[in-house]
Amino acid sequence: MSGRPLRVVQVGAGAMGVAWLRTLAAAEDVELVGVADLDVARAEAAVRTACGSGGGSGGGSGGGSVVIAGSLGELLAATEPDAVVNVTVPAAHSTVNIEALFAGLPVLCEKPAAPTLAEALVQAAAAEATGRLLMISQSRRYFAALTAFRERIAELGTPGLLTTGFFRAPHFGGFRDEMPQPLLVDMAIHAFDAARHLLGQEPVSVVCESWNPSWSWYQGDASATATFLFSGGTRYVFTGSWCAEGRDTSWNGEWRAVGGGGTATWDGERCVTSSAGGRAEDVAPAAHEQIAGALAEFVSAVRTGAEPDGAIKGNLRSLAMVEAAVRSAGTGERVGIGALLERAYEEALALPVRDEVRERLKSWGAAATVL
Ligand SMILES: NC(=O)c1ccc[n+]([C@@H]2O[C@H](COP(=O)([O-])OP(=O)(O)OC[C@H]3O[C@@H](n4cnc5c(N)ncnc54)[C@H](O)[C@@H]3O)[C@@H](O)[C@H]2O)c1
Repeated sequence: MSGRPLRVVQVGAGAMGVAWLRTLAAAEDVELVGVADLDVARAEAAVRTACGSGGGSGGGSGGGSVVIAGSLGELLAATEPDAVVNVTVPAAHSTVNIEALFAGLPVLCEKPAAPTLAEALVQAAAAEATGRLLMISQSRRYFAALTAFRERIAELGTPGLLTTGFFRAPHFGGFRDEMPQPLLVDMAIHAFDAARHLLGQEPVSVVCESWNPSWSWYQGDASATATFLFSGGTRYVFTGSWCAEGRDTSWNGEWRAVGGGGTATWDGERCVTSSAGGRAEDVAPAAHEQIAGALAEFVSAVRTGAEPDGAIKGNLRSLAMVEAAVRSAGTGERVGIGALLERAYEEALALPVRDEVRERLKSWGAAATVL
């Protein structure tokens, strides 16, 4: 594939699928060659919306026609892709990712890697067994302002406290309305993952409470507060709601870090401040932010063999933060991340998986080995 665009197929053509199709079509070094969705008419419509026609990709590299199909298997039979982008619902991520990996293809998959940590561990074992890259797109790591905020935090010394406030009121419909924990599982993973990135520390334990306000249109808990202890001693507090009408925060949430050297803030958009030196910056966006940033890192990793930040093993602790918060919300008790990972490892060993994957899982002996 050197010297020519990366031939990519996309699986999943829902709301986020359209955003991915637009991003793939605009990428210089990618050629979109196929799109699959269980709902084939939806795949056709998504390609028309994002690429301007049902048959031509309109890719940055001027690719030819886009094959439309009802499954990844059909796409693999009809195209010769170099990589797969998975934008299906979370419950389908494992099946699609593992099929692609065993077809010899690297995969860029939307967050969360899977609905459970055990399934994510199985995927990590599948990536290892096949020697192929499985990267999870945590698109909210790719903001120039987040990088600036990280630099300001580093100037304060190890923070004692990092906080995120996230308040919005989206009416999605679809799978989120029926999830038991829509905010924690579908949204908070972005903030949890960003907290690891900002602090350069790993989560140790969490206490979490979640609830569903009386006016909520979600079936599950649309509000939560979680307090994490991190390995460097920092407390990270996430407070959010998905049914908070009025005065929305950014989709990134509003952030504050407090250390011995002062306070730094990020409004989740372009404004980063620090009391150290009295700085306030208006940070211009980078060329590739959000999913375009994840795609650029993925393409570079496929071409160079470099391990990207979002490789499945690096993402496991972000998913563990979610699962630990959900468990704590259910029991009212503090949940240790290390113990949770080991329990998930035992669960993974009991799942029905290919022999190669089971052998790889067994060879680890413990989840801690792969982290
Ligand atoms: N990064 C972000 O900011 C962001 C934002 C929104 C959604 N997401 C993530 O993107 C993913 C998709 O979300 P969405 O809002 O587009 O969902 P959606 O329900 O609108 O679309 C998902 C599509 O996947 C299809 N699908 C399901 N299983 C499939 C399979 N096995 N093969 C082929 N197609 C299949 C469905 O038919 C549907 O069209 C989720 O993981 C979600 O968490 C990320």
